[in-house]
Amino acid sequence: PKVTYVLADGSRRSLGLSVGASLMEGATGNAVPGVLGDCGGSCACATCHVYIEDARAAALPPPSEMENELLNGVAAERRPTSRLGCQVRVTAELDGLVVVLPERQT
Ligand code: FES
Repeated sequence: PKVTYVLADGSRRSLGLSVGASLMEGATGNAVPGVLGDCGGSCACATCHVYIEDARAAALPPPSEMENELLNGVAAERRPTSRLGCQVRVTAELDGLVVVLPERQT
């Protein structure tokens, strides 16, 4: 599935990701700046914060209690569209998803 990351400077990176990859892995594995993923995806660092401004976001599995708590501590503004990138996995249905990166992760 194709996923487009919109960087904080407005530039875009479109990638073909594997089904099952997390949005954090898709960014860090392809040198997309603006996502850190310090804890390696174990929902413990909140440096993989992304905004999913897509109607399909509503159909995603909702954040766990742990993710929701970590989202309260993200470095950039928390918005209703905020998710932790390591907790959202790419599916075929998400082809064409646009993910907006926050201006900072720490
Ligand atoms: Fe650490 Fe997502 S990579 S919380």
